[in-house]
Amino acid sequence: MIILGVETSCDETSAAILEQNEQGIQILSNIIASSAPLQSKFGGIIPEQAAREQIKSIIPVINETLKEAHLRPEDVDAIAVTEGPGLIGSLLVGVETMKVLAETWQKPLIPVNHLIGHYYANWINNKSNQPQFPCVGLLVSGGHSDLVLFKDHSQFEYLGGTRDDAAGECFDKCARLLGLSYPGGPQISKLAIIGDPKSYNLPRPLNDSRDFDFSFSGLKTAVATLITKQDLYLSDQQVLANLCASIEQAIIDSLIKKTVAAIQNCHVEQLIIAGGVAANKKLTEEFAEALEQLPQKIKLFVPPSNLCTDNGAMIASAAFYLKPVKNALDTQANPNLSLAY
Ligand code: KG4
Ligand code: ZN
Repeated sequence: MIILGVETSCDETSAAILEQNEQGIQILSNIIASSAPLQSKFGGIIPEQAAREQIKSIIPVINETLKEAHLRPEDVDAIAVTEGPGLIGSLLVGVETMKVLAETWQKPLIPVNHLIGHYYANWINNKSNQPQFPCVGLLVSGGHSDLVLFKDHSQFEYLGGTRDDAAGECFDKCARLLGLSYPGGPQISKLAIIGDPKSYNLPRPLNDSRDFDFSFSGLKTAVATLITKQDLYLSDQQVLANLCASIEQAIIDSLIKKTVAAIQNCHVEQLIIAGGVAANKKLTEEFAEALEQLPQKIKLFVPPSNLCTDNGAMIASAAFYLKPVKNALDTQANPNLSLAY
């Protein structure tokens, strides 16, 4: 089974071709064009501009991915596309383009929830290394921080999520306060390497609440207050690095606390992490250490960093476990899709 997956929910335009066989799921090609360098000039994403770039790049990206996989459209068994959530202009570019291709190539169309797609980056592997159910899934991206209990494919229970900003959003907003460019997560984590995470005492909201929710907006406010009240000299590399390390640590601590609680509460033996923030090395190292401390053995799955951030491969991967729509033309972009129903 060969699926072409397309992702255009934010500032990336990505198309990938994946094959599922007895061995598992493997990538034949995965092309990603990003307008992030352009967006970084403005300190964040301008939705109109992102969509305009995607209109220009979607067909070349699809052609490139077919070329790299040495395949023709007739070799593809189905087409998968992100239906939401995301920026409406960006989603429309992907959904409308793939509806037309599904009709003209006469292929089944499989709409994929972007958030589910992120988790399925963990299934791009040999069968023996794919997650097993039940497992807890933590999604940490620019727009979402969600904990779910997966019981089977397409069968999950929502456990909790952020009440305000997402973990990636918090990285990005703090980075902006520090004068760093977008996207802020990778920049903060790079500077944090030489910083002391204990330098500044930043809040870990909801740490003791008996739920599986997160809250990150107070962290951003605490950083803003700290910079002004203490008149921090951010041009000093060490001051900046110490603050970055403290921010990173506060986010990691909150994520680990609630995720470990969810694992224990649900009595699972596997944890899958996904989303752009999962590309953070310190986060995955600290998760591995925290799981080591638990009485039961927990297997941790994290995708390679290029499959943590938005990509078409994760959309194709999820599509192997979903059904096509009856009529491709009925598919609609839905910017408000969520996991919490
Ligand atoms: O999953 P993603 O590519 O897009 C969304 O679906 O939102 O996630 C992007 C987010 C951004 O907020 C970015 O700052 C964050 O992931 N990110 C990181 C790292 N790499 C990307 N955050 C922390 N450390 C990183 N290394
Ligand atoms: Zn994403």
